[in-house]
Amino acid sequence: MTQINLFDTEYLKSSSKIINVASIPQRSPFRYAGGKTWLIPRIREWLSAVGDKDKELFEPFAGGGIFGLTAASEDLVGKVTMVEKDEGVAAVWQIILGGGAEWLAEKITNFSLTSETAREAIKSADKSLESLAFATIVKNRVNRGEIIADGASFFKKGENGKGIASRWYPETLKKRIFEIDKIKGKIEFIQGDAFEVCEQVSNQRNVVYFIDPPYIKSGQRLYKYSVVDHEALFNLADRLKGEFLLSYDNVVEVRDMASCYQFAVQPILMKNTHHAEKTELLISRNLAWLLD
Ligand SMILES: C[S@@+](CC[C@H](N)C(=O)[O-])C[C@H]1O[C@@H](n2cnc3c(N)ncnc32)[C@H](O)[C@@H]1O
Repeated sequence: MTQINLFDTEYLKSSSKIINVASIPQRSPFRYAGGKTWLIPRIREWLSAVGDKDKELFEPFAGGGIFGLTAASEDLVGKVTMVEKDEGVAAVWQIILGGGAEWLAEKITNFSLTSETAREAIKSADKSLESLAFATIVKNRVNRGEIIADGASFFKKGENGKGIASRWYPETLKKRIFEIDKIKGKIEFIQGDAFEVCEQVSNQRNVVYFIDPPYIKSGQRLYKYSVVDHEALFNLADRLKGEFLLSYDNVVEVRDMASCYQFAVQPILMKNTHHAEKTELLISRNLAWLLD
């Protein structure tokens, strides 16, 4: 397949329209390492090719959950199920989707952020699910590279020299949390293992899957759970009765596995957080919708 550029400086170009990336609604409470907000226009296209109101979207490596949130907010599918193994990330989803949106939003807006209070919040994570959720939000906003995994250090200078508070936007977070609260009836969240959950529904034709595992190559330092059996994931994808879309780092190991299962593969240009352009792979049984 020939390579096409779907990401061109600030604009994603599709065949007939230009989409301003800055206009993609930011709906997640996380700034997620490896987050896929930039891929949202493609996801809308994919879901309109394979999905409809009777379909259920599974997002088995949910992280910041931007796909599920977009699909639920824009009524692109009937139901969304998000799965995430990281207990801290899961706690945020469990609290927001389980009726604790107001509590979390208040906690965030009443918090006076300094290095000391951030450290204190992170230290108290083990007290309750609420404390864990709040500690995770704090870590995600004060750690370098938005890394939630243990060992990440706090920002030093941050944006505009604002140091630790440079990514702490309480009102924005509150707004996003309340927006998620409004659509929580359409979203189920499961704290658990992507493989086990997908296996359970693998025979259902009405389920579609957006599968975004940690990168094979550089995922290690980003997540607490970064080791995934990628061969087993390709094997699982092959057995799913519903449609799937996999996203991966563009490395030879991935291209080899995709070719082994005769999946369609398309490199697309993306920008990472350092504004360096690089390609990522989209993999599915059929990518004709992408090339239309
Ligand atoms: C690339 S990130 C997902 C990013 C997400 N698509 C977004 O836009 O925010 C991969 C996620 O998979 C999670 N993960 C790793 N192994 C998992 C497993 N076996 N089951 C469920 N989640 C897992 C990691 O904790 C991480 O949050």
